[in-house]
Amino acid sequence: MQITEATEVTEALVSAMDKLIPQLSRSNPAPTADELQIIVDSDASRLLLAIDDDGTILGALTLVLFRIPTGVRAWIEDVVVDTDARGRGVGDKLNRFALDMAQENGAVSVDLTSRPSREAANRLYQRIGFEPRDTNVYRYSLNG
Ligand SMILES: CC(C)(COP(=O)(O)OP(=O)(O)OC[C@H]1O[C@@H](n2cnc3c(N)ncnc32)[C@H](O)[C@@H]1OP(=O)(O)O)[C@@H](O)C(=O)NCCC(=O)NCCS
Repeated sequence: MQITEATEVTEALVSAMDKLIPQLSRSNPAPTADELQIIVDSDASRLLLAIDDDGTILGALTLVLFRIPTGVRAWIEDVVVDTDARGRGVGDKLNRFALDMAQENGAVSVDLTSRPSREAANRLYQRIGFEPRDTNVYRYSLNG
């Protein structure tokens, strides 16, 4: 298994995301090929894929990188590993690859959020070394 950054949108990528995104979110549809192309084309978003030795896409993670006045910031978003491939360190490898990439791009820290009910995810992040931040996380909903 290896981690690579998606550089093109293939049918295999679209169908892998079709399978993976429902395992992450019931409320958000999987991205279309055009939406994936936007992610792949943007310098601010790096779509990282865990690919098995037979070419199967086992999981994905999106690293978001952007400069603001106080420095380069990085967020890890939409981490998901196929249910059949869990517990084998795929999520661990995806996150560590993203952390290395963030560091190479000048970020001094990497942020993420994860609901407490996501037990496997919270255990994984804390094992890797993510620590709770003393801050309030807010959301303003624009959907009425
Ligand atoms: C979170 C997730 C990405 C982890 O992927 P993974 O490839 O299984 O990760 P790893 O194998 O590196 O380690 C995961 C940890 O969860 C544990 N785990 C694996 N499967 C589990 C399960 N079904 N239930 C509970 N814990 C589980 C592993 O034992 C491991 O913890 P440990 O090493 O302390 O024992 C994956 O479970 C997933 O996609 N979950 C659904 C989507 C999600 O919650 N994404 C995170 C959004 S913030």
